[in-house]
Amino acid sequence: MSNNRQRILVPGKMNQRVLDRLPDHFDPVFIAATDPALVTAELSSSVAGIAVQGKIPAEFVDAFPKLEIIANFGVGYDGVDAVHAAERSVMVTNTPDVLTEEVADTAIGLLLNTVRCFPVAEQWLRQGRWVKEGAFVLTPLTLRGRTVGLYGLGRIGLAIAKRLEAFGVSIAYHTRTPREGLAYTHYTTLKSMAEAVDTIIVIVPGTESTRRTVNAEVLQALGPQGVLINVGRGTTVDEEALIDALQRGVIAAAGLDVFENEPHVPEALLSLPNVSLLPHVASASQATRDAMADLVVDNLVAWFETGAALTPVPETPFKRKTA
Ligand code: DGY
Repeated sequence: MSNNRQRILVPGKMNQRVLDRLPDHFDPVFIAATDPALVTAELSSSVAGIAVQGKIPAEFVDAFPKLEIIANFGVGYDGVDAVHAAERSVMVTNTPDVLTEEVADTAIGLLLNTVRCFPVAEQWLRQGRWVKEGAFVLTPLTLRGRTVGLYGLGRIGLAIAKRLEAFGVSIAYHTRTPREGLAYTHYTTLKSMAEAVDTIIVIVPGTESTRRTVNAEVLQALGPQGVLINVGRGTTVDEEALIDALQRGVIAAAGLDVFENEPHVPEALLSLPNVSLLPHVASASQATRDAMADLVVDNLVAWFETGAALTPVPETPFKRKTA
């Protein structure tokens, strides 16, 4: 180590603002990937923190006996085994709140793009088809009269619901337990909500309990006018079942910002006319990504300077052990 600053490892790609700010406070060190084979003995014995924008497998955490904190770039921390980190008394932080409104904006944009086909209509104009062939087709779907079910009603889900109120649609939600003080209809199961609504917006975290819960049965329940929007995690949707449902008209359309195996999107999805696809950009404005980057670095600074992280994940509610 070149000085007595804490050593922070950045494995793989990382937001530029995090990279720019880390040297102001720490001794950053970089490796190409979260591969234990890349960890030298010197690294293993010196790293006190990790800043990550991706996956951290449990065995990678175990390669660092002095590791105290993993600062995850993103509100979703499905790439980090937080339960394992907690067992090792390693703090895990994420980036909530600073992206809530941006992701909610994107969800509404994707919903409108999906039902009203705006990206396709723009292509019609750009390709000169408006001039040559006349008006773009009338869209078979509309947001008017829809009942939208939110699968998940955390901070981002609530921000989406608030926006939906202004659009004059009926709002329902599915969570394990109902939230108090809300006028939205609560459903105890995803399937019962799917039966009652014609639009689902997925905004649950990607965990084992949400994995592939949007399955063939749920899509069947959503029905032929059904629209599925996913701004949560790709793992929540059974992608094969979704493709089949879209191909056979089991549901009408889907808008997806997230996929099971990013950045790879199945050819079958790309070739479907009734989908609107985005490359995981829900939080991806410069301003919001800057705020997320600041929270990654500020969590690391707070941990080592005050002994408490700013935004710990629920699995790691503890403070720093003082030596
Ligand atoms: C998040 O914060 O989890 C987003 O998906 C990253 O863009």
